[in-house]
Amino acid sequence: MDSPPPKTVTPAPFMLGACWYPEQWPEESWRRDAGRMRDTGISVVRVGEFAWSRLQPARGELRLHWLQRVLDILHDCGLRAVIGTPTAAPPRWLLDDLPDMCLVDGEGRPAAFGSRRHYCHAHPGYRKACAQIVTHLAKKFGRHPAVIAWQTDNEYGHHGSARSFSAAAAAGFRAFLRDKYRTMESFNRRYGGAFWSLEYNDFSQINPPAFTPAGHHPLLLLDFYRYSSHSIREFNRVQTEIIRRHSPGRAVLHNFAGFLSGFDHFALGEDLDVAAWDSYPGGFLARHGPAGEQLRYLRTGHPDYAAFHHDLFRGCGRGRMWVMEQQPGPVNWAPFNAIPAAGAVRMWTWEAHAHGAEVVSYFRWRQTPTGPEQMHAGLHTPDDKPAPGHAEVAQTAAELQNLPPPAPPFNRAAVALLVDYESIWMADIQPHGDRAAFTAVLDFYRALRRHGVDVDIISPRDDFTGRKLIVAPLWWAPAAEAVGRLQKSACPVLFGPRCGSRTEDFAIPGDLPPGVLRPLLKLSVRRVESLPPHAPLAVTFTAGAKKQSAAAICWREIVRAEGAQAIAKYSDGEGEGALFASENFTYLACRPNDALLDAVLRRLLKQAGICSAPPPPDVRCRRRGGVRWFFNYGSRPARIKVEGEVMIPASAKIRNGNCTLPPAGVLAVLDKAEGA
Ligand code: GAL
Repeated sequence: MDSPPPKTVTPAPFMLGACWYPEQWPEESWRRDAGRMRDTGISVVRVGEFAWSRLQPARGELRLHWLQRVLDILHDCGLRAVIGTPTAAPPRWLLDDLPDMCLVDGEGRPAAFGSRRHYCHAHPGYRKACAQIVTHLAKKFGRHPAVIAWQTDNEYGHHGSARSFSAAAAAGFRAFLRDKYRTMESFNRRYGGAFWSLEYNDFSQINPPAFTPAGHHPLLLLDFYRYSSHSIREFNRVQTEIIRRHSPGRAVLHNFAGFLSGFDHFALGEDLDVAAWDSYPGGFLARHGPAGEQLRYLRTGHPDYAAFHHDLFRGCGRGRMWVMEQQPGPVNWAPFNAIPAAGAVRMWTWEAHAHGAEVVSYFRWRQTPTGPEQMHAGLHTPDDKPAPGHAEVAQTAAELQNLPPPAPPFNRAAVALLVDYESIWMADIQPHGDRAAFTAVLDFYRALRRHGVDVDIISPRDDFTGRKLIVAPLWWAPAAEAVGRLQKSACPVLFGPRCGSRTEDFAIPGDLPPGVLRPLLKLSVRRVESLPPHAPLAVTFTAGAKKQSAAAICWREIVRAEGAQAIAKYSDGEGEGALFASENFTYLACRPNDALLDAVLRRLLKQAGICSAPPPPDVRCRRRGGVRWFFNYGSRPARIKVEGEVMIPASAKIRNGNCTLPPAGVLAVLDKAEGA
């Protein structure tokens, strides 16, 4: 079946897909499954992921022929394939060969065999075994005409696997430190190890920060997080290099997991063609949603969690993003696993599209009756009958035919939200009472969504030029170089509390926070405090937008203005203000509640000339090309003002310029002024 590689890896603008595990089902059913996938409107099928024991049942024994037959069938049926490398599930026999290859946790316990992700990224023998199996696969299938892409591993860092305390990781960590600090003298000086006798005589004495009775040295923790992130990237590169060598013209991607920050996703994304991710809006709500929202969005999933990750991973993929796994019904792993509302699977799919997804692929084609994850829905029930999600996928595929292909490249948003993984690590290491680093970032994102503006998520290494507003909720130790670029870009920037509060070596800046940002912000932070979450502190604006309910929560700083103008004050009169402006730069000296954040953003969006059109409370919107999309996450119908031609749904009824959007409803309006 070999043929020359396709000229381009860019797939059709939007395709639906399915994750299929043919190794679990009798071969007689394969062709029927593939035909039904095609008839449902699916064009992309992921296979091979986790199938190591079937591809290589024992050392030196390769069985690739079944996968060859699978790919041939997919090709015959006009389907395209993504091969997942099986390295997230090393087989039992490999552990006999490499008994020390397992992930070790911070209490020194090695992971047992019996699940997945039980390996250590740093283990040289395991990396070699991965290189071998990936080479076999890439050589054999790299030019197969069905293959359009490769997925490396599965969800790096998931299940607590981002940081390993194994002997291999310890050796890698020491080499990383040696390379970074060069001499022991430089290490000890930058560490500030004089306190608590934390000095070392030699790099060989340094271990990964495993269990200690009291807190670990923050810089040792941070360096270990940096090292672990680097180690995952190195591990991934072994695979991307092999795949690129043997499978020209095919996209290389990884399926990132949501709500993880154990490694720098932007850095890993630099080695990929596409950043894919796995979207489980119902599961995420149950696991991470605030109590008040769990009932409100029980059957539609959280209205902002998936969107945040779509925008994040589109940023990591430099504009290219897929949803490799999309929730098709109830999941099995959350604290509660509700059946999604009728229409929710379709709504999640179209929302991913609106945020730039090129592919949305459902996990999984059929629910498994055996083995792990039996309680996870598929597009079919275990007896092979269509599950409710199936009809929604078929409906989406039919609607896809009516949609004008969106013109690439994906729209660049006027507003960018800066996400910095190092800052998330620093805030996790030293929360000082405010335990919600990731949530703080999400709060800013959610507030921007409430205003109805589109957001790009960028890293500190991105190009800042051309944005009308950059929002940096959590940027603890900006590099001087990035600050220089920011100044040159002349973009207005909103900084959240604690920005600039540490140096790259996790020290309080010599001239106090905001350290490297002080010349921009023209203020200094003299004292800080964290507050109990139930003790909000009222904040009032000195002019303009007065908002009684605006308050600081969890964290506030006592600030001295050094040229900056105070725009809002704490009700107890402490410090010179709660919000400061200096030319293009605004500094929020506290963690804001929603009312305060809304008021601050309203003011900044207005100043930046960004037209914000807040949708009704449970509705979210997003523009892709010339199409504006609306999604109703609420449990009641919502009224949307329609300004253009309705593309989806075909049955939309417009009365007096308004359309009623049912719960879990989708509305796509082609903007007359812009065209698609
Ligand atoms: C993902 C994972 C899949 C499957 C799925 C269940 O995190 O990549 O293999 O476990 O969750 O929701």
